Amino acid sequence: MSPFHLTRTLPEDTTDAALRCDVQEGLTGSPKTLPPKWFYDARGSELFEEITALPEYYPTRAEREILRARSEEIADASGARTLVELGSGSSEKTRHLIDALTGLHTYVPVDVSESALTLAGEALVAERPGLEVHALIADFTARMTLPRTPGPRLVAFLGGTIGNLLPAERAAFLAAVRTLLAPGDALLLGTDLVKDEEVLVRAYDDAAGVTAAFNKNVLTVVNRELGADFDPDAFRHVAVWDAENEWIEMRLRSRTAQTVKIPALGLAVDFAAGEDLRTEVSAKFRKEGVRGELSAAELELTRWWTDGEGRFALSLSVAR
Ligand code: AVJ
Repeated sequence: MSPFHLTRTLPEDTTDAALRCDVQEGLTGSPKTLPPKWFYDARGSELFEEITALPEYYPTRAEREILRARSEEIADASGARTLVELGSGSSEKTRHLIDALTGLHTYVPVDVSESALTLAGEALVAERPGLEVHALIADFTARMTLPRTPGPRLVAFLGGTIGNLLPAERAAFLAAVRTLLAPGDALLLGTDLVKDEEVLVRAYDDAAGVTAAFNKNVLTVVNRELGADFDPDAFRHVAVWDAENEWIEMRLRSRTAQTVKIPALGLAVDFAAGEDLRTEVSAKFRKEGVRGELSAAELELTRWWTDGEGRFALSLSVAR
């Protein structure tokens, strides 16, 4: 039996149905919204990789710094024999952790991108002979069934992506993660932290305009998949800090009054001049808030690590 397995739990056609649903709901409601998961086609994933290298976008570097410094502590604290990584992408930052987990038996990367899973999985199997890699093509916001693998289990959800969920969605997500864990199993969670507004806004509105292109790419996705006629140049990229909710919002602001046709849905969507379409929420956290949300899902925060500048945190919590 080869140590690299790939399981598809995501039927090819659910993507299309989900996109239709999200676009229909999001563009007929008020205010207009689109969920951020539709950013990540091939072009969007490329643009996101570019974002992570921008001088203004600190979270990726801050998290990598923590993983580099703390992987051994994380490994010792969890003693994991199975590592599940939700939204694994290229598995690049997880390398430190995988290397530190000396007793690791199986790595389960979970992602919607089959190409990323195969690329990362094959490389890992070649580098670490004996390690089982059981890749799952799955949407981690939906309920998942994991392969039967030895415990203890460590589930990692990195990058601060939990911040892209709204509070009620986060609660549901953490409750679902908890069902994947037995008592004593752990969750490693990456969360971006509350900080100066200027630093936050610049991270989501960079000088080179890469984030603007990333934001507008979602319109290209809807054009291609649903035959819509969005003109990306007819919208302006906007990043705003919502101090009440402590999250960044990315929006696309209509430059003029315009009507967009979406033939696949038989829909015509009117935008007023200056009207916003919200494309992403990126929540920023405080330790006590993270502890509270974990606790509500019967996860007990046991460790908290930040980078040297206190910009980003990794927390380890244990299933009760
Ligand atoms: C890393 C996916 C959580 O919210 O910071 C980057 C995505 N959006 N720039 C984030 C993103 C705009 C991102 N995540």
